[in-house]
Amino acid sequence: MTRTSKNVHEDLHSEQGAIKGGRAHKAKNPVIKVEDLAWLEFEKPDLDAAEQFAHDFGFVTAGRSSDALYLRGALAGTQCVVIRQGAKSRFIGPAFKAVDTADVRKLAKETNSQVTELTSPGGGIGVDLVDPSGIPLRVVAGVAELPELPLQEKLSFNFTGELNRVNAMQRPPREPARVERLGHVVLESTNFNRALDWYQQHLGLIVSDFLYFPGQRQLGPTMAFIRCDRGSTPADHHTLAMTLGPGRKYIHSAFQVSDLDALAAGGEYLKEQRYKHSWGIGRHIEGSQLFDYWRDPDGFLVEHFADGDMFDNTVEPGWAEMAASGLSQWGPAVTRDFLEANPSPHFIKHLVSALADRDNEFTAQRLLGLAKVAMR
Ligand SMILES: [Fe+2]
Repeated sequence: MTRTSKNVHEDLHSEQGAIKGGRAHKAKNPVIKVEDLAWLEFEKPDLDAAEQFAHDFGFVTAGRSSDALYLRGALAGTQCVVIRQGAKSRFIGPAFKAVDTADVRKLAKETNSQVTELTSPGGGIGVDLVDPSGIPLRVVAGVAELPELPLQEKLSFNFTGELNRVNAMQRPPREPARVERLGHVVLESTNFNRALDWYQQHLGLIVSDFLYFPGQRQLGPTMAFIRCDRGSTPADHHTLAMTLGPGRKYIHSAFQVSDLDALAAGGEYLKEQRYKHSWGIGRHIEGSQLFDYWRDPDGFLVEHFADGDMFDNTVEPGWAEMAASGLSQWGPAVTRDFLEANPSPHFIKHLVSALADRDNEFTAQRLLGLAKVAMR
């Protein structure tokens, strides 16, 4: 560890330190350093149903055309979700935000790719790439930002010895939690290490926490929570999280709301609309967010979060065993729905093909490791 770096992982939940010769948490000389996720792109057959759920979840429509829906949060910025009209419901990929258009051009040159003018609202330019998992992504810059919308009213809290609210009641409204911004996306990859190397080298991402399968520390990590390198400006503990598994797929995405009351009252509102709750409310370990997970009408997992950790680029990575019980500091036991513990025919198909493919990292040994995660 360097003198200027900080170790914030000396606590009950995380053991310290990489094994000598183990993988690095960042690239020495990345092509560019992206500063955030810009938006996530999905395809769905029914834009009306998608828009209804989006409003109930707390998004605001930023724009709608005959074949696309653009959703935003209340903070200033670009749209944070793009839903294109398509034959089936599927995740297309993430768009990352480069610092400027020069970085997009530099990345395009380095990857022998074309820079394109974006046709979505706000314009800008982008480069379309595919990570080593086969997941398409784009890196964008120069997109015009939308102005801030009214935020959830900040509550005033009374603490022992610190009265901030006298002769006034606490009445958080039971309404959709106001989504402020996109926080992170979690993806599953059969080529975890190759993909992680790629994101570190091309987008300058830094690992905040590594997880490994029970009993397999020596085989290296199987999950990484990865943040953007904004130098001394703090960034979300993870903007991208990747996990080794038999599929190449979207796991969930997370959207910030103002605080615990907004998260809980917004959850009550979603319950009243009869949407499917997946898991929560609790507080995570990696990233420390207050969380609540929901399924959209197509079964995509989406998270409301508040009060997440923010790290600058000096924080060293933590290392911990991956365990179902290690997903939260407090909250209800993790659900089978969240873990996707009931194998679907789709999962079995992925599993069989992942194990048959000798060119990926999901081996029979890794399958045994993964099976132990749910039991811990
Ligand atoms: Fe999350």
